[in-house]
Amino acid sequence: TDDRISRISSSIRVIPDFPKPGILFQDITTLLLDPKAFKDTIDLFVERYKDKNINVVAGVEARGFIFGPPIALAIGAKFVPMRKPKKLPEYSLEYGTDKMEMHVGAVQPGERAIVVDDLIATGGTLNAAIRLLERVGVTVVECACVIELPELKGRDKLGNKPLFVLVSSA
Ligand code: PRP
Ligand code: MG
Repeated sequence: TDDRISRISSSIRVIPDFPKPGILFQDITTLLLDPKAFKDTIDLFVERYKDKNINVVAGVEARGFIFGPPIALAIGAKFVPMRKPKKLPEYSLEYGTDKMEMHVGAVQPGERAIVVDDLIATGGTLNAAIRLLERVGVTVVECACVIELPELKGRDKLGNKPLFVLVSSA
């Protein structure tokens, strides 16, 4: 596992001062260019969730749409896109200031979900996704991200919701 984590970690390109001065942008597209790192990323999530009775993998637009579907396929769960505002037709539900929308009827009360994204920064995005799913009676078992920026304390915004990350970035 340590080998896999270090390969994943070194496959992520860090771009200084994007999108603003002082921000170190974590670019996961270079991870996608390394088939072994990409496979290891998916495998680590699948190993964690395959026996947890997860029926929903909710992926956050846009980069959660890359990591979520292969996990969903491998664990036999459905994939539900959590979308940015104004992308869906009228049969959608939305939540929060970091607006998140989902199709009505995509999930059922009592289903068990994980929420997948590439990265947690302030936690606003994941928080909105969790609240929206919980509003319709879904149990959010855990959030799963490739990268965490721990200094932004995004974890705290998730309350007591567990967060699983592969790489922590200083
Ligand atoms: C980035 C990242 C997460 C979010 C994390 O997405 O992919 O989704 O920010 O930030 P937060 O924890 O402070 O909410 P971004 O909004 O840049 O959009 P994209 O994934 O569509 O490129
Ligand atoms: Mg995103």
